[in-house]
Amino acid sequence: MANPLYPDYLPTRPDGYSPTLDVPLFEADEPGTRADPTTPSILKAGATITNITPIIGTEIRGIQLSKLTHTGLDEVAFLAAQRGVLVFREQDFADIGFEKQKEVVKYYGPLHKHPTMGYPAGTGPEFHVVYADEKAGNLRTLLGPHTTYDLWHVDQTFTPNVPSTTFFWVLEIPASGGGDTAFTSLTAAYEALSPAFRELLGGLSLYHTSASVGEVARVGMERALKEAVNTTHPLVIRHPVTRKPSLFVNPTIARKIEGFLPEESDNLLKFLHDHFRSLDFSCRVKWEKGTVVVWDQRAAAHSAVPDFADGERRHMLRMIPYGTKPQPAFPEKFIDSK
Ligand SMILES: [Fe+2]
Repeated sequence: MANPLYPDYLPTRPDGYSPTLDVPLFEADEPGTRADPTTPSILKAGATITNITPIIGTEIRGIQLSKLTHTGLDEVAFLAAQRGVLVFREQDFADIGFEKQKEVVKYYGPLHKHPTMGYPAGTGPEFHVVYADEKAGNLRTLLGPHTTYDLWHVDQTFTPNVPSTTFFWVLEIPASGGGDTAFTSLTAAYEALSPAFRELLGGLSLYHTSASVGEVARVGMERALKEAVNTTHPLVIRHPVTRKPSLFVNPTIARKIEGFLPEESDNLLKFLHDHFRSLDFSCRVKWEKGTVVVWDQRAAAHSAVPDFADGERRHMLRMIPYGTKPQPAFPEKFIDSK
């Protein structure tokens, strides 16, 4: 196998290092609320804008994320909230260095520190390397035999504050192609439901736990349960930037509706999990050299598409800021389980 294109970004992990999963509630900033929705200036100066579908996803060329002012970064958060996912092409982001990368994403909030995944030597767990090769394996080899490998989720929602404007960029694409990332709109999935059904959902809350499928696969059931951090969030939240209701389901992390009996919870969640991944609300992002994806985790869920061959290298970096604690879309209907 050829040498990696970005050897400085290979994942490392000092022995014994394991920060806590817990992040106590804090007052968070939402930069997207500062943007003027009528005049997104970053889209003016020669940018090429293409919607991936009318419902979700916008591809943008002609803007360098690394060169944006705070006003521009506010607009990125606003547009990501509105469109679910933004795909910035031809970026220099992968080559601007750790400090500058961190400075840009940190603008949106305190950075998530991944408790188990590796980070580039000399940096910290705010840098989450997503890495596959012949030695490290890939998502299929990690999860073992299954018919399919969709793993729709929102990242790390088991804390009171949840991830917001997330940056995910490519360092090396599998040689044969593949390794796309799929996104689905949580706001469009909500809007497609009947008024009568929305009425039911508006009162419910979901139990989120860090003892998720992925975490259990990484560290084992015993350790995942022992270290589990849990919280509840409304099932329908009011998006802090767009103010739209959003179906805040999370198949790998939120698997129990508070107050429901097991069969009621399992069946309602199965319906919602089948519903929200529909092609009606989703899109696939194909990675190119220089692509940076920015998405809002309260507006879109995502799934990897591990369709590249075993042994191929795929090298990515993700950085997550925390936003506000999700609020119920309809406080008058919401039954607070706590
Ligand atoms: Fe994820």
